[in-house]
Amino acid sequence: MISFCQFGAGRIGAIHAANIARHPGARLRTVVDVDVVAAAKLAERHGAAVGEAAAALADPAIHAVVIASSTDTHATLIEAAARAGKAVFCEKPIDLDRGRVEACLAVVKQAGVPLMVGFNRRFDPNFAKLHEQLRAGRIGKLEMVAITSRDPAPPPLAYVKVSGGLFRDMMIHDLDMARWLLGEEPVEVYAAASCLVDPAIGQVGDVDSAAVTLKTASGALCQIANSRRASYGYDQRIEVLGAAGMLQAGNQLKSTLVVAGADGVIGEKPQPFFLERYAEAYRRELDNFISAVTAKTAPATTGTDGLRALMLADACVESVKTGRAVRLSQ
Ligand SMILES: NC(=O)c1ccc[n+]([C@@H]2O[C@H](COP(=O)([O-])OP(=O)(O)OC[C@H]3O[C@@H](n4cnc5c(N)ncnc54)[C@H](O)[C@@H]3O)[C@@H](O)[C@H]2O)c1
Repeated sequence: MISFCQFGAGRIGAIHAANIARHPGARLRTVVDVDVVAAAKLAERHGAAVGEAAAALADPAIHAVVIASSTDTHATLIEAAARAGKAVFCEKPIDLDRGRVEACLAVVKQAGVPLMVGFNRRFDPNFAKLHEQLRAGRIGKLEMVAITSRDPAPPPLAYVKVSGGLFRDMMIHDLDMARWLLGEEPVEVYAAASCLVDPAIGQVGDVDSAAVTLKTASGALCQIANSRRASYGYDQRIEVLGAAGMLQAGNQLKSTLVVAGADGVIGEKPQPFFLERYAEAYRRELDNFISAVTAKTAPATTGTDGLRALMLADACVESVKTGRAVRLSQ
């Protein structure tokens, strides 16, 4: 039985806490949040206690931590948990600064504890099936990947200001998916970005629409399209072209209902946002972490994956700034 302490009782924290609580091999022992009301609510829901960070990390009855607090707390909490010998699951991104991520990963390495980074999309059942078929050679040699990832609506401006920008906050998921699907590291990145949805996002120094092209050493290409707006719901699709065919994984719809009439055929919209769309992926992600901790094996996504995705996001930012493709060393 793996006993958990969870940091963060916000949106994603509620999901992870529920997934720990439902797992037969895990229990949520402590919830820590600077917002004690939020911590108490979540702890009560799952029969856990409200705790304080230092005491929770010093508690030998706690084996693992989930870090689902605000991004600016991740690196410090990872280091503290690693030094306390706990296995760590941390939400993306580890930090917004590459140097800070590298320093944090050095502490984790020194401590010898497992660190999993929450790239939940790899655990979406349809994307996982696509990946499995791709690696099994179902469409021959991979040539091109297309990732479409559109949020239904922009986040509040207060969030945009501290998010680290579209590339490090939002596209980081797609950049991780690109690496995972391509099966090799991109060596060249070209990014173009605009403010097409809300000029206020531009006024605080961010973009809301971006198109990125990645190229690997073997010549494989990946295109990522991000928008902070899709009037029809959360748009999450992948297409991979190979020498012998094509693989597609599409949106999950609210239901499979189709209404056919004289004016046409109308289907349901995609799920509204990530909490619904990736509910199963969040479950499978945490299952993977618990299995890895129990079996003392490596989790499916690591700190290195977190660092690599951030390096690609940094390259996108540089490419937008310079208007040129950025070469990446391996
Ligand atoms: N993988 C995904 O799909 C996904 C989705 C949403 C958010 N996230 C990531 O999860 C993190 C949290 O996002 P959210 O949307 O749940 O935010 P949120 O604002 O809803 O929740 C964050 C919580 O962290 C708490 N907190 C702040 N500082 C803390 C500290 N030092 N110790 C303990 N708790 C602290 C806040 O009080 C708040 O309750 C972010 O890093 C975000 O990037 C990932």
